[in-house]
Amino acid sequence: MIPGRRRILGVAGTLLGAGVAGALAGRLPSTAAATAPVSAAPLPWPYPRLDPDVVAARAYWDYFDGHCMYGVFAGIVGELAEKCGGPFRTFPLELMKYGAGGVAGWGTLCGTLNGAAAAIHLVSADPEPVIDEVFGWYSSETLPDFVPEESPKPLPRSVARSPLCHVSVAEWCKVSGLDAYSVERNERCARLAAATARHTVESLNLQQAGALPLTHPVPEEVQLCRSCHERGGQMANARGRMHCRACHPGIGADHLDASAKGK
Ligand code: HEC
Ligand code: HEC
Repeated sequence: MIPGRRRILGVAGTLLGAGVAGALAGRLPSTAAATAPVSAAPLPWPYPRLDPDVVAARAYWDYFDGHCMYGVFAGIVGELAEKCGGPFRTFPLELMKYGAGGVAGWGTLCGTLNGAAAAIHLVSADPEPVIDEVFGWYSSETLPDFVPEESPKPLPRSVARSPLCHVSVAEWCKVSGLDAYSVERNERCARLAAATARHTVESLNLQQAGALPLTHPVPEEVQLCRSCHERGGQMANARGRMHCRACHPGIGADHLDASAKGK
């Protein structure tokens, strides 16, 4: 057994011990429970390259147990728990149910992306480029491009143009003519969880092989906006990499003319 793996299993043992201590806590004097040693394995946790298609199929079914964020996260981490055991078995997957509907139905960050980003942070030593790739992919590709073997019925696909649940669902409703509370929309989000889990694993695999190309970079127009409105710009009053004009349609070509500024 390699030393790193022994160390991780050792820590997992501690975690399991802590779990038992937690279960007993009700019967222990509170001071003993409060001082019981607890330590989690430091991040990143080990990542053996996973099979993107296996994880996608898992995420599709996990979606029906706990929605979008849970689907992606449980798809990836459930597969890691099976392959590596160790700390992955101790993770309280149910935590990820909060992300449903863009966090408890608020329509903010799409749960599939929230789950992907959490999983990426768990296993990557350099998470940001992988997150950039997955968020860029999600915002610009025609999705969901996953079809479950068990229900191959075709479903309309759309370009989200945003990592936000609200925008993503609304764009899909526009393209499909179906409503946001339909059975088809639920199926679409299950397939989206599968597609996002697959692309996340593909990107993690590439990063681990030392070859993560950023195939979905921040669009040039957004970079232009950022050059003035982000850190170091003449008006550093905004942050983000979402499509700016989706929410600021009134910003025209004249606005982008640097020479027109500062008058
Ligand atoms: C060359 C620098 C520059 C670039 C590029 C630029 N801005 Fe601005 N922006 C400014 C400055 C300076 C102001 C404040 C003065 C003004 O309103 O003209 C401003 C104001 C704004 C405002 C608030 C006022 C308004 O007009 O609504 C918004 C919103 C905005 N910019 C969005 C954007 C977006 C979106 C982009 C990219 C499509 C962009 N900006 C690109 C410099 C820039
Ligand atoms: C999801 C919608 C959304 C996206 C995407 C978005 N914004 Fe905004 N932005 C807003 C809202 C809402 C406000 C607040 C508007 C207000 O108070 O007038 C705002 C405010 C701003 C302001 C300040 C406006 C002012 O009147 O001072 C700037 C500048 C700005 N955004 C730039 C950007 C840039 C640059 C991007 C892309 C990197 C971007 N925004 C992407 C929704 C968005």
